[in-house]
Amino acid sequence: MKLIYTGKTKNVYLLEDGNYLLKFKDDMTGENGVFDPGSNTVGLTVEGAGRAGLRLTKMFFEILKDKGIPTHYIDADIDAATMTVKPAKLFGNGLEVICRYRAVGSFLRRYGKYVEEGQPLDAFVEVTLKDDARQDPPITEDALDMLGILSHDEYKVLKELTRKIAGIVKEELAKKGMELYDIKFEFGRIGEDNQIVLIDEISGGNMRAFKDGKQVEPLELEKLMLE
Ligand SMILES: Nc1ncnc2c1ncn2[C@@H]1O[C@H](COP(=O)(O)OP(=O)(O)OP(=O)(O)O)[C@@H](O)[C@H]1O
Ligand SMILES: [Mg+2]
Repeated sequence: MKLIYTGKTKNVYLLEDGNYLLKFKDDMTGENGVFDPGSNTVGLTVEGAGRAGLRLTKMFFEILKDKGIPTHYIDADIDAATMTVKPAKLFGNGLEVICRYRAVGSFLRRYGKYVEEGQPLDAFVEVTLKDDARQDPPITEDALDMLGILSHDEYKVLKELTRKIAGIVKEELAKKGMELYDIKFEFGRIGEDNQIVLIDEISGGNMRAFKDGKQVEPLELEKLMLE
């Protein structure tokens, strides 16, 4: 097993059969001990966070599998905090795809002149480049195509999948009395036909959810979802 990438919240290993093993760490993104799913730094370390994130990820990837939505998921070992996945080719150096149901986070920081905090948004999809040095800049469909990162046809698939998957997560959260405000996904191309599939994770660290007017922290969210 060879370590091929050390991420902020996971390490990536190459397995002998060519698949990848994702090892979930207890590190969470944020600043000075405060969680922020949009942050590009590790802001806090909480014991058990990795396993809890993996358990939720496993639950969602299995729901998606049942619904016929393509993902990289093969299986998960909760005790070891690892997930086996199919290797994907990233779009450029990686994209983040965000689906927004309410105006908060970076959307509000950018467009605050035109929206109220928490204003409803209709499953609005945005793409950002994974580029920590440039604070993950938002990028348009035209720019993605022009820069050779993602074609217009692929963009359509990506957007459609994003809205479908976010809708499923929103529904599952609603069953536990939570409202999904926003969520971020990663996608990649898999196999010889370069099928676009969901990769990475769906944990509390990738979304903002509220319950009774208060934001639900990732660990609390995972506890509520899995109990
Ligand atoms: N199936 C896959 N194939 C290839 N790469 C993958 C796959 N699933 C996840 N990855 C990549 O593995 C890495 C996981 O590490 P981690 O989540 O710590 O990411 P990061 O990019 O360092 O930080 P962040 O996501 O918080 O910005 C990410 O770069 C992600 O794009
Ligand atoms: Mg990540």
